[in-house]
Formats: sequence, structure tokens, C-alpha cells
Amino acid sequence: MATVTKTIRKPAAQLRLPIIPENGDTPAVDKKDAVFNDPNFSSNKTLPVHRWVPWIAGFSSGFVKSALDGFLRKKGTVLDTFCGVGTTLVESILGGHNAIGFEINPYAALASRVKANAYHIDIDEFTSVIDDFRQFYKKMTSSKYKPYSAPPQGFKTRALFYNPLVLHKVLIVQDFVLAIEDDTLRDLFRLAFASTMVSYSNYSYEPSLGRRVSAGREEIHDFPVAKAITDKLADMAEDIAWMQEQMTPNNLKVQIINDSFFNCRQHLPTESVDLVITSPPYLNNYHYNRNTRPQLYWLGYAQSPEDLKKLEDMNFGKFWQTVRDCERLDLSFALSHTGIQERLQTLRNLNKEKGSYGGNGWANYAAAYFNDCHRFAEGIHYVLKRGGTALVVIGNSILQGVMIPTDEYFGKIAESVGLELVKIDIPRATRVGNSIIQSDVRVAKAKSSHQLYEAVVVLRKP
Ligand SMILES: C[S@@+](CC[C@H](N)C(=O)[O-])C[C@H]1O[C@@H](n2cnc3c(N)ncnc32)[C@H](O)[C@@H]1O
Repeated sequence: MATVTKTIRKPAAQLRLPIIPENGDTPAVDKKDAVFNDPNFSSNKTLPVHRWVPWIAGFSSGFVKSALDGFLRKKGTVLDTFCGVGTTLVESILGGHNAIGFEINPYAALASRVKANAYHIDIDEFTSVIDDFRQFYKKMTSSKYKPYSAPPQGFKTRALFYNPLVLHKVLIVQDFVLAIEDDTLRDLFRLAFASTMVSYSNYSYEPSLGRRVSAGREEIHDFPVAKAITDKLADMAEDIAWMQEQMTPNNLKVQIINDSFFNCRQHLPTESVDLVITSPPYLNNYHYNRNTRPQLYWLGYAQSPEDLKKLEDMNFGKFWQTVRDCERLDLSFALSHTGIQERLQTLRNLNKEKGSYGGNGWANYAAAYFNDCHRFAEGIHYVLKRGGTALVVIGNSILQGVMIPTDEYFGKIAESVGLELVKIDIPRATRVGNSIIQSDVRVAKAKSSHQLYEAVVVLRKP
């Protein structure tokens, strides 16, 4: 196997882009010099379109832009295998490329679909519906109007999600939104509601969804709900106008597939993608589906816990809670001399006396994760055109104090399915600790011995 350079940069390092060869082929990445933008989402919070929907572990648009500029010289097809709220897709179409995204979470898939297609929207029609909304809401909140919408029945929370005054306003919003005839405009409103809905509830993201009172905040008894939504809608209208200015008329194809990437063979022909830019869930047990329960239920995508369970089963990597009690879960592929098996064994032997909470459960969790890394790598190999590149942003992990270099292991797995591992670049060497680090390994202890980082694994299909 080839020796791969691992370049670690400080966050403030000057950014340089991969160089495009004169012949227009996908460039060979200079193993010493290629540097990517920091892939962290936080810089998106103020940027047009990207600011619509906050998403934990989203990409920065700058990272995607530099990747597109560096790897696609002419119009191509870009795939994000785990597209989240669509950062890759939005940047791809702004750059004049066709965009495809897979996403299992229907709320995130909605966000991706609405954002990536937003440049088609008629701004005048949109702003006129926003005005109608303002009037409807004003009229209904100042009368004895009884909304006909109801909170989703299956959505159970420990504390009241909305206090009565807030709930009344939210239901008025629902009545208006459900009555919008045009599907596209209705989806813009649904997204404006869904992306703000937690901010006026008794819950908050810390970054997992939890009660405000548990985080030392007060409950919300009343709130200017319409203002939160109309502010969001105004941002959307402004950004759509901006998007339309940026884009020349085109016949771009945008495809958002609300299914697991593991089913890619059912949706895409082989060798149909020029560039993959993506980031799978990390080995940190972050539960995207559970954390978006409010949106999934209120948007009508979930009616009961079984619906959540289906998403959980489809998720990349199993959740620790679902495998910690299994006797032993092993790798489903054979790969010698990689160190993966040995690292899993080290983990498995730790803290046996802690039962479910000991090393075996975490080794099972990591083994399931690497099994999915293997399926993921096979999927990349299937979709990529020959000579095509995949940029996979992945964070390392610390389980029970054991550092798991997921980037290196994923690189080796990718090589084993026939992809070339070109390079591993590390634009950000200090990632904020995740839920595992905070709950199961003491932060200070983990930081003293291991560094959390985020890596860009660059692969090519020969
Ligand atoms: C790290 S986030 C990607 C965020 C994205 N880069 C962005 O900027 O919004 C990983 C995403 O993968 C999705 N996901 C998990 N398992 C999946 C699967 N099997 N197929 C497709 N998407 C999946 C999760 O719902 C989550 O939105």
C-alpha cells in the first residue's frame, strides 16, 4: 500500500488550493501543498442560503467551493453521499455543476431540496405570500380564532414542548402554511418554521436536544413566533434574489434522494459522478434523528417511535446504545496489517467490569462503524467515474481513552476496495469535544493525551 502524507495545519494556516492541470483532467493532488479550507459549518451561519438551516457538523461553504474550484475544471456532476442540509449541493449549483445528494433524514432532505432548487422561485409571488401570512397572523392573534391544526399526536416530550400561548401561535402558523396551495412556496414556509421552531420551545440544542431548564435557561411562556418566522422568510427572499443574480440560465440537474447511500445502486448508474464531496456521521454517537424529533414530527415525517427507529437502522454506523449489549460484533471484511483489528481488541479488553459501559460495547460500536465505512467505500467506487475524486471529511475519535484514527482506517479500507488513497489533509486540529468525549471520557483527560482533529481523506478511482 502507498505511503500517504498526512498534512496537519493550524486553523489559521494560509489557504492554498489544489492546482488544476492544463489538460483539464482531475488534478493530481500535490501531497505536500494541497490545503483545504476549514470544513467547519460555523462560518455558514451568516452566508446566503447556507444560513437558512443550522445543522450540527455541517460543512463550511468555503471548503466546498475550494474543492470544486480545485477538482472540477468544467461542468461536472457532484455527489454528496450524506448531504445533510445541502451545503455541497448549493455550492455545486452556484458553481454551475449538477448536484446529487443522499440523505436519510427527511427534514434535512427537505432543507437540501428547498435550498438547492430555490433559484427557480418567483420572488414576487413569494413576498406576496409572506405579506398574506403577516396579515393572517395579525388578524387571527387579535381575534378569538380557534386553530384547526393540532400538535402532532405521537410527539411525546418529558416537559411541555410549547407553553400554551406559544402553542396557540404555532398552530395559527400551521393553519396558514397548510393552506398554501403552491407546493414549492409551502415548503419554504415549512422550512422557515422547522428551522426556528426549537428557538421558541422549552427545549434547546446543547448541542443535543434537551430541556432549557436542564441547561439553566428559563422556559418560554410567550414569544413573537411570527417575527421569528417572517425574519427567516425575509432572509430567504433576500438570498433567493442573490442566488438568481449569481446564476446564469442553465439546465442543471439537481437530485435529492431521501434514502440511504447504501442503496446507491438502486438510484444511480455506475461511473456517473465526477466528484464526491461529503462527510459521513463521525464515530461520536451523535444522534441526528433523535435531535431532529421536533421537526420530524411537526413536519409530518414521523408519527411514532417506529418511524424514528427506521431512520436509526438506516443510519451510517450503529448507535452505541443499540450494540453495547451484544456479545461481540466483528468486522465484516478481512483487512490485515491495518491496525484496525488490534485497536478494536485493545478497546474490547478495557473496563470489562463496567459491563455494557465497558470496552466491549464501544468496540462493537466502532466495528459497526468500520463495517459501514467499508460499504461506503464500495459505494464511492461504484458511483465515481474513472479518474474521479472523492473528498471525505471525517473526524477522529476517542473511545474509553483510546484514540481511533478513523481517517487513516477509512483510507486503508478505501484502498482495499480499489480506490487510490491520494492524501490525508488535516485543516483543523482542534475539534470541539463531542458527546462521547464529554460524557464517557473526561474532556481534560482526553485532551491531555489525544488531539481531536478533522481530516480530509482524498481518494481517486484509478
Ligand atoms: C456530517 S452530516 C453531513 C452534513 C453536511 N455536510 C452539511 O453540510 O449539511 C452527516 C449526515 O449523514 C446523514 N446520514 C446518516 N446515515 C446516512 C445514510 N446511510 N445515507 C445517507 N445519509 C445518511 C445524517 O442524517 C446527517 O445529516
